[in-house]
Amino acid sequence: MKIVLAPSILSANFGRLAETVEELNDLDCDWIHVDVMDGHFVPPITFGAQLVKDLKKVAKKPLDCHLMVSRPEEQVELFAEAGADRITVHAEATQHLHRLLQRICALGVSAGVAVNPATPVSVVEHVLGLADLVLVMTVNPGWGGQRFLEECLPKVEAVRRMAPDHWIEVDGGIDLETAPRVVSAGANALVAGNYTFSGDPAERLAALRSVVCAVSK
Ligand code: DX5
Ligand code: ZN
Repeated sequence: MKIVLAPSILSANFGRLAETVEELNDLDCDWIHVDVMDGHFVPPITFGAQLVKDLKKVAKKPLDCHLMVSRPEEQVELFAEAGADRITVHAEATQHLHRLLQRICALGVSAGVAVNPATPVSVVEHVLGLADLVLVMTVNPGWGGQRFLEECLPKVEAVRRMAPDHWIEVDGGIDLETAPRVVSAGANALVAGNYTFSGDPAERLAALRSVVCAVSK
């Protein structure tokens, strides 16, 4: 099974994001995870669609945009126009998840649906036909470098049972210890921010690849 590694630029130096993306172009990773925070759905503020537009000019890998924003309905068109390859929205952020996912698909962009640690995975059951990815948050959204929440691991198994062919992405606290465990539970897309950028990203991603390959064969 192919396992996608998606370094999160949330933990990179915001002053040189284009250079970071150029470096990631040549490393053993698959998607660039872009954490969009609006200061409302979660307290911090990070990036908007303009950054996606600029990074798209240099990125050779898909931009995996994780929208941690209130009223995502007002943002998806801008992110699609900016060049997002996937737009993942939080089930908790909209009253009309089905309609929003339809909208993202109509914009010609892959759609993902994210669930916070307290949100039951059953919320995605009836929209699986509109999303090719379910993002199971393994920390509370808003900050990099938090500890992996063990109670979220059974949620990964539950989504895998529900959606055998979807991307199941995990986000938060992924490192050499937790990565093999989430893959064994059924995840096939791993976001890693703090882990990737706390050392040399080339070495860190190679080590991550090696531990996930060992369990995914
Ligand atoms: C958290 C973000 C994550 C974050 C994960 O709200 O959605 O993508 O970058 O960070 P780490 O890998 O540092 O736990
Ligand atoms: Zn994220």
